[in-house]
Amino acid sequence: MSLFKMRKIRAFTLLFCIITFSTFLFSYTFPDPSLYFYKYASRWSDSLFSKGFCSCHHCMTEPDDDPWFTERFNQSVHPFMTTRNSVLSEETFRWWQWLQSERQPANYSQVVEKLFQVIPDEQLYMDANPERCRTCAVVGNSGNLKGAQYGGLIDSNNIIIRMNQAPISGFEEDVGSRTTHHVMYPESAIDLENNTSLVLIPFKTLDLQWIISALTTGTIKQTYLPVMSRIKANKYRVIIYNPTFFKYIYDTWLESHGRYPSTGFLSLMIALHICDEVSVFGFGADQFGNWHHYWEENHLGGAFRHTGVHDGDYEYNVTLLLADKHKIKLFKGV
Ligand SMILES: *[C@@H]1O[C@H](CO)[C@@H](O)[C@H](O)[C@H]1NC(C)=O
Ligand SMILES: *[C@@H]1O[C@H](CO)[C@@H](O)[C@H](O)[C@H]1NC(C)=O
Ligand SMILES: *[C@@H]1O[C@H](CO)[C@@H](O)[C@H](O)[C@H]1NC(C)=O
Ligand SMILES: *[C@@H]1O[C@H](CO)[C@@H](O)[C@H](O)[C@H]1NC(C)=O
Ligand SMILES: *[C@@H]1O[C@H](CO)[C@@H](O)[C@H](O)[C@H]1NC(C)=O
Repeated sequence: MSLFKMRKIRAFTLLFCIITFSTFLFSYTFPDPSLYFYKYASRWSDSLFSKGFCSCHHCMTEPDDDPWFTERFNQSVHPFMTTRNSVLSEETFRWWQWLQSERQPANYSQVVEKLFQVIPDEQLYMDANPERCRTCAVVGNSGNLKGAQYGGLIDSNNIIIRMNQAPISGFEEDVGSRTTHHVMYPESAIDLENNTSLVLIPFKTLDLQWIISALTTGTIKQTYLPVMSRIKANKYRVIIYNPTFFKYIYDTWLESHGRYPSTGFLSLMIALHICDEVSVFGFGADQFGNWHHYWEENHLGGAFRHTGVHDGDYEYNVTLLLADKHKIKLFKGV
């Protein structure tokens, strides 16, 4: 018999004794011991036998992950930019510059150097370990949130990621009131609370120049659209989406469908890579098949499915698959 098997049997025997003993004990001390008991026993046996990769009930990576997921999930590509990972391969740089066809880009490496004189240059959240349990909510802007009453559920997460316009005031019962991370690009920017991290998705070198400007001099007022020249945001909490990660998502998770991923999908992918448990709200259509925002009345307006640049159907399929495989919990709203 292998040493491993013997250890297992010993651990089982020990567990069995503890179960018997503590059931006996609990039945004297607590009215309903089973609840406490199974919670602890199952967590304990999880850590003994399955070597969970986090301390939540479910972890993003599990020992028995299915091949579809493991073929795609690459934890060594970091979602956020630091000086160290800011150097792009030639292929990535070309792809990234092509996204919005910037005509005369500034010198990228000089811009990046200046950027990290304004915002922190830290590697964030890549600290997965068996003791960590980081729960995250990704809150999309779908009309299916209207009347869904998810506010409490959303607010109970450690990290709450919202994107683009995402108004909260007046919608708290349905969408919650806390925002730890707000994902945006220059053309969709809004002012933020001091305790919210701004996550910028750059589509071009000018976008990096814009965030520098918007936090300092306010000189850039226009990209391909007029943009906010100054933004209210805590510059100690500004984070940049890494173009290398951006391309990894497009190549690996979307298999090059659409021109580039939507903000919603890019935000979901942040959570997948920095969280242990991910709950997803406000994605997809409402019960009538309409695509609109939760703050809009217009059920026909739906701008965000067929914008021409995103493959919303393909993205939603991948999202559904992640839910099927218990990698995310998808709350479909009403
Ligand atoms: C994961 O990403 C790293 C860094 O980009 C790369 O070197 C590695 O080959 C990737 N692994 C897989 C399995 O694709
Ligand atoms: C950008 O600037 C760096 C020096 O800061 C220089 O070495 C590099 O050649 C420049 N790149 C381009 C494309 O001009
Ligand atoms: C940020 O601060 C506001 C009030 O200043 C508070 O309502 C909110 O819960 C805080 N958000 C987070 C994520 O802590
Ligand atoms: C925002 O938070 C930073 C620390 O992260 C602090 O230095 C700054 O004074 C705060 N600003 C406001 C307006 O509260
Ligand atoms: C989504 O998945 C369904 C069934 O799995 C498939 O029939 C459909 O073609 C997929 N759609 C896209 C856009 O890939």
